[in-house]
Amino acid sequence: MIHVDPKLTDEEFLRLFEKGINSQWGSDQIDWGLTQSLPESKKLALGKLLTPVYLGEQTAMLGVSAVLPMVLTSGQTEPALYLSSMGLDEARHFRNLHKLYRVLNVDPLPSRRLPEMWRYHARLLQKREPVPWVFGILISDLFAKTFYGGFAQRFPNTVVGRLSGRTLQDEARHQAFSDRYLNRMLPTMDVAAKKELLVLRDDLFRIMEKLGERLRGAMEELDWSPEAFLAELWDDTERWVKRLGLVSLTEA
Ligand SMILES: [Fe+2]
Ligand SMILES: [Fe+2]
Repeated sequence: MIHVDPKLTDEEFLRLFEKGINSQWGSDQIDWGLTQSLPESKKLALGKLLTPVYLGEQTAMLGVSAVLPMVLTSGQTEPALYLSSMGLDEARHFRNLHKLYRVLNVDPLPSRRLPEMWRYHARLLQKREPVPWVFGILISDLFAKTFYGGFAQRFPNTVVGRLSGRTLQDEARHQAFSDRYLNRMLPTMDVAAKKELLVLRDDLFRIMEKLGERLRGAMEELDWSPEAFLAELWDDTERWVKRLGLVSLTEA
């Protein structure tokens, strides 16, 4: 149920919402001309490697728009306010990558070459409850963060690095939201429902391992490897799992 005049007392989410509003930015803040130092071979590899991130931004748009009504109709107005700003962030990320492909003059991989990308998308969008949604969105934000972080580090003074660095600031805010929301909600869940979150994590990682294999050639072109990528992402995810108190469940 939604209220005409809700109380809006949850300062943590309200602060995050204000931050979300004040941190909005447009594509005019990126120097799209910074492509000179990118050799053609790296551009082609980037085109391939960005493919799952590109779809992931649209998955994130779908994720936010699916979870928002669940949260709002359960009377959690403050998190719903924040999610509205997050939807705009994901739309911007998608739009920017669309533009980046045109600026670099390369193409994403055809869908049939990355079937796992669709499997990941489908697994994430299976859920009907807000907590698994937010947990899935968190893992996907960490996935995006690992990619954007790697691009920012490898191509610092190019359009790719600048765009990645700017996008990472949005992703950090999304993680702050997941942190708060999950910390609030997890204590209300039973052990079986919490274990389901770890099943979701394991399923997503299994899919990402296969995805990594398909992208190995493009990663090697950028002095990267699926193993290094997944190890970094796994460590990051494990830190969150521990922090959220989900770790003891694996031993239970
Ligand atoms: Fe994003
Ligand atoms: Fe995100």
